[in-house]
Amino acid sequence: MINRLRSLLNLVFCLPAVAAVIAVASSAGAWAQQVASQPISPADSASATHSATVSASSMSSRVLACTACHGKEGRATPDGYFPRIAGKPAGYLANQLLNFRDGRRSYPQMTYLIEHLTDDYLREMAAHFAALDLPYPPPPAPQAPPAALERGRVLVQHGDAARSIPACVSCHGAAMTGVNPSIPGLLGLPRDYLNSQLGAWKTGQRRAHAPDCMADIAKQLTPDDVSAVSAWLAAQPVAAGGKPARALPAAMPVRCGGVAGVPVAAAAAAATAATTATTGSAAPALGAVR
Ligand code: HEC
Ligand code: HEC
Repeated sequence: MINRLRSLLNLVFCLPAVAAVIAVASSAGAWAQQVASQPISPADSASATHSATVSASSMSSRVLACTACHGKEGRATPDGYFPRIAGKPAGYLANQLLNFRDGRRSYPQMTYLIEHLTDDYLREMAAHFAALDLPYPPPPAPQAPPAALERGRVLVQHGDAARSIPACVSCHGAAMTGVNPSIPGLLGLPRDYLNSQLGAWKTGQRRAHAPDCMADIAKQLTPDDVSAVSAWLAAQPVAAGGKPARALPAAMPVRCGGVAGVPVAAAAAAATAATTATTGSAAPALGAVR
């Protein structure tokens, strides 16, 4: 146990390269799954007292395997691929863990760790990461020409009504730090990760609970729009604190599945009702989408 724990800790603190993490993730995974599926026993904790990380709390030991990829305490750096999870809205994180477990998102090395965990267990891990209040590093220098960055900024802040693209800030918040409990922020994420997520929604590889507003929005974006938006977002600093907003100043322009307690614009709500009336099929209930 201790040896395996040590090798995991070495892995966490002396990351030689991301590729190495992926290569060993499966062995770390076996350990993590063992830890994750049973609460740490008093004997285990006692034998591990030399490690401050493990004795801190049983939840931080449960999630050690997560930090191998998501970085110390879940605050990945913006220059790799792994997304930050620390401080994101709890409902959003829980929805994503369910999405990975149930096949609406795919990253096999991670799904492997959580495929047998219960909804409650996933929600507890989500709550743990959501409650972390840790500073964000400064963003990397912009990686696109000024015209592309400007195009990205305009799309994020104003959308493009002629192409039915709502402003990203109308749901993700003016500060782009997300809205509790289920809308994620768009800052502090690597450009490659943003490109890949928007691309995955376009091709149907990433799905959210229905109605999947992000799939509809991503399909309206051209590949140039996607790279402009990702380059601009990845280069923005996170405002002090960077916490998700408590509420949006106005109703969301479109209804999104998995988002509760946020008002939706009357026109969008009416359109959803009309579709339901003509097709006779309401949007599938949460959890029914597989
Ligand atoms: C082997 C590396 C690896 C491990 C270990 C891992 N993850 Fe992930 N995780 C990823 C990658 C890569 C993504 C993004 C996948 C994609 O492209 O959609 C991700 C995505 C996520 C997301 C979605 C983030 C977002 O902004 O949408 C959450 C939440 C998450 N992981 C939580 C966890 C938790 C909790 C654990 C531990 C039980 C864990 N991960 C372990 C690699 C890993
Ligand atoms: C109608 C509301 C709405 C609008 C407008 C909107 N989003 Fe989203 N977005 C969401 C919701 C809800 C989620 C969470 C989906 C889920 O649960 O997987 C999300 C998730 C995302 C994610 C995933 C973040 C992560 O950590 O993986 C990205 C990236 C994103 N949106 C980008 C955009 C961009 C770029 C725009 C503007 C072009 C935009 N969104 C406009 C509601 C919206």
